[in-house]
Amino acid sequence: MFRASRKSVLGGVFAIAVGLVVSLGCGGSDSNPASSARDDNTSDPPPDSNTTLVTIQNSSFSPTSLTVKVGTQVTWRNNDGIRHTVTSDSGGELDSPLLSTGNSYSHTFSTAGTFPYHCTPHPFMTGTVVVEP
Ligand code: CO
Repeated sequence: MFRASRKSVLGGVFAIAVGLVVSLGCGGSDSNPASSARDDNTSDPPPDSNTTLVTIQNSSFSPTSLTVKVGTQVTWRNNDGIRHTVTSDSGGELDSPLLSTGNSYSHTFSTAGTFPYHCTPHPFMTGTVVVEP
């Protein structure tokens, strides 16, 4: 009785481990391991230490708030079915055109500061980039 139940627990763990290996394997053998965590974007550039991605989805920016170092390039990618912008609340630091589905906008921050932004057609969509020296 004890042996049987222990064996079945081990079998369950083994099945989970196999499932993980199989699901990781489905990510595509030609993409690097770091990008396999994002299963819906195969065209993303490989992430590196000076690039940060903000996803636009469900009419919100994710992450909403972001802290980066001076010199970092931030890329916003629109995964929504409607168009959005990335527009500074004041000043012209961020000034994207309307981004259609799948389009992205990149900006490299060269000065430290706090940069709040919004989407022009949807002012309730807001985000902030904090740039540290
Ligand atoms: Co919008």
